[in-house]
Amino acid sequence: MVSNLILWSAIALLSVVWVEVVRDCYHALAHVWPTLYKLHGWHHRVFRPDLSVTSEEIYRKAHWYNDVPEALVMLIFSFLPGLILLIWGFDYAWVTTLGSVYTLSFLVTAIARGAGVPKADEITDLTHRPGQFTEIPANWRVNRSYHWRHHFDDQKAYYCGTLTLVDKILGTALSLKGKTIAVTGASGTFGQALLKYLYLSDAKAIALTSQGNPVSIEVKGKVIPIKTLTWQIGEEEALKELLETVDILVINHGVNVHSQRLEEAINTAYEVNTFSGFRLMELFLKTVKTNKQIATKEVWVNTSEAEVNPAFSPLYELSKRALGDLITLRRLDAPCVIRKVILGPFKSNLNPVGIMSADWTAKQVVKAAKRDSRNIIVTINPITFIAFPIKEFFVSWYFRLFTKAS
Ligand SMILES: NC(=O)c1ccc[n+]([C@@H]2O[C@H](COP(=O)([O-])OP(=O)(O)OC[C@H]3O[C@@H](n4cnc5c(N)ncnc54)[C@H](OP(=O)(O)O)[C@@H]3O)[C@@H](O)[C@H]2O)c1
Repeated sequence: MVSNLILWSAIALLSVVWVEVVRDCYHALAHVWPTLYKLHGWHHRVFRPDLSVTSEEIYRKAHWYNDVPEALVMLIFSFLPGLILLIWGFDYAWVTTLGSVYTLSFLVTAIARGAGVPKADEITDLTHRPGQFTEIPANWRVNRSYHWRHHFDDQKAYYCGTLTLVDKILGTALSLKGKTIAVTGASGTFGQALLKYLYLSDAKAIALTSQGNPVSIEVKGKVIPIKTLTWQIGEEEALKELLETVDILVINHGVNVHSQRLEEAINTAYEVNTFSGFRLMELFLKTVKTNKQIATKEVWVNTSEAEVNPAFSPLYELSKRALGDLITLRRLDAPCVIRKVILGPFKSNLNPVGIMSADWTAKQVVKAAKRDSRNIIVTINPITFIAFPIKEFFVSWYFRLFTKAS
């Protein structure tokens, strides 16, 4: 009996996920198929950037031309899982009707909004409510700040309506197009490789370097100069004005003092790897004020798999773990998305015996970011894929339970 209940619940849940997938695929299709966009385009005419409605008439029309047909497509496809299970002779095929009932609720509310039923929009159109955003874009569900980006950041991304699964699969859960992205440690091996993949993703990359030399990247044999600014450890405040204009800050600089253990090495490791990155992040977080900034600004922090594994360099591990833990702590109250980049050994100036190439590693990092991975792990060490999420989960909860926001 219990096993039957579990099976029914799983099928019922999957039938709901299925119709959500259908909705998101229909939406993505509407942005590549002009005929369908003729209907969907009405939805994009409705809202101003503050999510107020341009006109009541357009709002209602958008429901008849977009939301109602979308719900009808979902309804037709909602019968598919039941049909397949029936053909297979499965006894509990009827459980999939939950997907159809769930879809019907969308059809009814879309009709209500189209007909102008009072309060129907307030109660049922939750991702388009105006007002101050109270949450950063959620990772697995679509909230207001997540969906806002589909309207005003990039219409060719953020297609999902309720769950973010389809965007994660399509790599449209984060758009880098047109984003101003500043990368520290830019003249280093990984810095340059990352700048290349950000450039290839149509971002406006800025190189932040402690050297005086301008940074450039090579793409298909062509040398492309990157806007370069110089900064120094301890002089993070000098970047304040620039950070106002930056959408994504990538904290990537780092040093390995290898086998050293005296006072100077301790200071260098913590100043470069921990505190300068932390100070930069705090400066950047202070620039997040408006709804647009909450929805689109981000910090990516290149810690290391040394957060959970030995790097055979104790001060490197200590300083990177300290940075990693500070990020975990600050993520509890952060006003925007903060991603951790957890990398295994790649060949670079810092690690000449690294196994992966910086180019391949950077490509994977950008790919994972577009899938909205909040902890981007790229490594050849399988232990990190298990140890890091467990460590992150427990440390985060420990910090949550024993600290307060005020
Ligand atoms: N290589 C690996 O196996 C590996 C593994 C996991 C994580 N990581 C992390 O990945 C990041 C990039 O490292 P990488 O391997 O590409 O090494 P890299 O080629 O040595 O690049 C590191 C860059 O950090 C900047 N930097 C170093 N010391 C600095 C200082 N005192 N002040 C300001 N900037 C300083 C420099 O860039 P500018 O001269 O442009 O300022 C330097 O080129 C580091 O955070 C590293 O810890 C590396």
